[in-house]
Amino acid sequence: MKFLKNSWYCAGWTNDVQDRPVHRKILGEDLVLFRNSKGTLIALGDRCPHRFAPLHQGRVHGDCIECPYHGLQFDDSGACVVNPHGTGAIPAANKTSAFQVEERHGVIWIWMGAPSKADPSAILDTSHIADTENYVTRTLSHPVKSNYWLVVDNLMDQTHAQFLHPETVFGKAAAERWAVHMDAKQQRDKAFSDDDENDQEVWFEENEESLITHYKMRGKPTPPLWKPIFNSELCNLYSRTIWRVPANCDLTIEFSARDDGFDQEVATMIGHHLITPIDDHNCTYHLALSWNAKIDDNEVTDAVMEIVRQTVIDEDGDMFEKCQAYMGDNTDLFSLRPILLETDRMAIQARRQMQKLIEAEEKAAG
Ligand code: FES
Repeated sequence: MKFLKNSWYCAGWTNDVQDRPVHRKILGEDLVLFRNSKGTLIALGDRCPHRFAPLHQGRVHGDCIECPYHGLQFDDSGACVVNPHGTGAIPAANKTSAFQVEERHGVIWIWMGAPSKADPSAILDTSHIADTENYVTRTLSHPVKSNYWLVVDNLMDQTHAQFLHPETVFGKAAAERWAVHMDAKQQRDKAFSDDDENDQEVWFEENEESLITHYKMRGKPTPPLWKPIFNSELCNLYSRTIWRVPANCDLTIEFSARDDGFDQEVATMIGHHLITPIDDHNCTYHLALSWNAKIDDNEVTDAVMEIVRQTVIDEDGDMFEKCQAYMGDNTDLFSLRPILLETDRMAIQARRQMQKLIEAEEKAAG
């Protein structure tokens, strides 16, 4: 499978890289991440050019990383700058690759393409993570043994939730047929209005910058995910999932308890689901989840994150791996001639858009 290289991928969280080098594999490339003497994050190819030892098993020396095998040292450009042997001469070709990295609000972003093409202004806005007055945020990272598109499929079609997550994020009492609309004329405000005839509805929105799936449930049983925060019986819920290149999905949920009528507080939960390919058959599911109700209650926070952990790891993660196992080594969904449903629309569009971007990138590279 070909990957889009000129793009920002999540490489984990700021706290993941402290005083020891850390290994990552992204788009099939083995990388080492470390901090120099000033705390600046550096990302280099992990393979030492001498005898191909893994640099992440070495140690940081000032602003360089020292290879664990014969002690060559490499600076932030990937160039070998110290040879502790003989005359200390350094062959001109003695360097490893270097990658641009940025840290934003606790997220590590890496640009896997040509450093000269990196545009930090294109990094996803996760600024509410830093807004600790109004939001509580927790993160998780989970390695998945499946192609990354199986995860994006899942995020762009949440009608699976009533079947796969009856005890966790969704609950079972709300399970019924979704009304599906193929245009975006539905108004988001309908989610909180008694004038609308549909209680459970999904609709799509497609524009030049993004692909969006909207969901609403009106007067439905409160999903277990929200029970620790609002112990209501019924709720109104609206959610919006926006796909962004390459495989990042922003999932925002607005929730109001329904028991005492409509004039309830609306709480917001924002999930940044950042899916990073490791290689063709593996990816890392990074999630930063923030919400703005009961933010000082640690018991509530722990209870919410336990439900999220079960959902992402035990339920979704397990399903991705089982689907990939039945797909075998194949990562080209269309070649397997899958049945397509109305609710697959945005996931299919996302694949097509990415295919075009990858082809354009290849053409430009000659
Ligand atoms: Fe790295 Fe020899 S393998 S210095």
